[in-house]
Amino acid sequence: MSGLSAGTVITGGTVAGFFATCSGCKKEHHRGLMTEPVMVLEGDFSKLLSFPSQAGVNHTLTAQSTTANLKGTNIPVLGYQPNSLLGPSFRVNRGDTVNILLQNNLAEHTNIHWHGLKIPALMDGHPDQLANAGGTFRYQFTVNQRAGLSWYHPHPHEMTGRQVFQGLAGLFIINDAEEAALNLPSGQFELPLVIQDKRITPNGITYNPSMEEVMAGYMGESIIVNGVYSPYTDVATRFYRLRILNGSNARVYNLALSNNADMIIIGNDVGLLKNPSSVKEILIAPGERLDVLVNFAGNTIGTEIFLISKEFGNGGNAQGKQQFNIMKFKVASSITDTFTVPAILSNITTVPASSAVRTRTFEISNAMEHHGYPMNDGMQMRHRINGKLFDSNRIDENVAANTNELWVFDNSKGDEPHPMHLHGVFFQVVQRSGGRGNLSASESGWKDTVLVMPGETVKVIVPFESNTGKFVFHCHNLEHEDDGMMLQYQLS
Ligand code: C2O
Ligand code: CU
Ligand code: CU
Repeated sequence: MSGLSAGTVITGGTVAGFFATCSGCKKEHHRGLMTEPVMVLEGDFSKLLSFPSQAGVNHTLTAQSTTANLKGTNIPVLGYQPNSLLGPSFRVNRGDTVNILLQNNLAEHTNIHWHGLKIPALMDGHPDQLANAGGTFRYQFTVNQRAGLSWYHPHPHEMTGRQVFQGLAGLFIINDAEEAALNLPSGQFELPLVIQDKRITPNGITYNPSMEEVMAGYMGESIIVNGVYSPYTDVATRFYRLRILNGSNARVYNLALSNNADMIIIGNDVGLLKNPSSVKEILIAPGERLDVLVNFAGNTIGTEIFLISKEFGNGGNAQGKQQFNIMKFKVASSITDTFTVPAILSNITTVPASSAVRTRTFEISNAMEHHGYPMNDGMQMRHRINGKLFDSNRIDENVAANTNELWVFDNSKGDEPHPMHLHGVFFQVVQRSGGRGNLSASESGWKDTVLVMPGETVKVIVPFESNTGKFVFHCHNLEHEDDGMMLQYQLS
């Protein structure tokens, strides 16, 4: 599948039927937008997978222009440390207090959002809380939540997409006693995998979305894992724990193994599920995380197994049209392990939908945005929530502390996937109607991001507790977010 020289970039962006006449209102607008998918170009899976360095509770992250080796060439990227795309992986214990200094050596402002951490509003990386060019921001907070895989990335409004795409992101892993008691595969058998798509040229990672790429989200032709293009890793004939983040701006993956082996889902965005469940394929949207056990036992030495993304339906015009390999596992040694998958992973209390004191519905079907909602800028195509674009001076929802609410994301008339993410809280997914019509194996337990496909309406229950302040919630397609598909709630 290679044969194309490094630096060849194939982009989507052909637009056909850009405007169509709506039978309902007889006006011309953007139904029928036909952004084509950005096709993935595979490499030869000959580069050894590496892992970001680890960091503890005291650390300085220096946002900077640096270089990283991609496709054999050192190219300009953004990083939180020299000579690398991703920042270090933090690994902390529940109860730890962290003290992280962001030193902004970029020529523009930035900040850090700790995606998946429930921390005070002023530490959360709200788009108002910035480190100016040359400045600093000190993040100090106590980690008081269950074990899980969180991550961090910039959140300056209208610049998040570019800063993340060009390299700024990292993992934040929390351990606790409940998780430790399960004796899950650890050390060299626990593999954190950050999956991203990039547009790699000899001159850098290109980020210049056209209007139609803002609509579909910006996707790349090159899949990287932990910052490595087309990687492989050696594995032994035993259980592994894959801790997967979709750190892409817009691309949704339908993960599977090329030998059709089971993937045992044990965790998601905010830690362990109650029980494991075995699947053959599973969708992961930008911002979501998966904790997966894979057993390589029974494979002969030399066997090559790929983590792949399969085609999927109902993802709009730009998503799910192609199957491709993401990375290769090479079975390289024989080990007998005694690990058995625990039947019960965690004690999770279901929050009853009946405990909600109110329901808020958010219209996210942007294709039909002018029906029933005021358009504050005519027929201009923008991504909105309830017809509104982000405005940091406007509180959109006032929520009472220590109450439970049902939040409903209505994409029933939409034609694009929207992974909806709430800051400052965790939620449980109650129901999906339309589209897939049910919840996936990774949507039990606690989450912070939920994928709402075209045609779907997804209901979540959110315990708001006492973490008061002003927080954003938004679509985690970063082009949609930067385009304004983000609102604010005030918890008081
Ligand atoms: Cu990972 Cu507000 O986002
Ligand atoms: Cu219309
Ligand atoms: Cu979106």
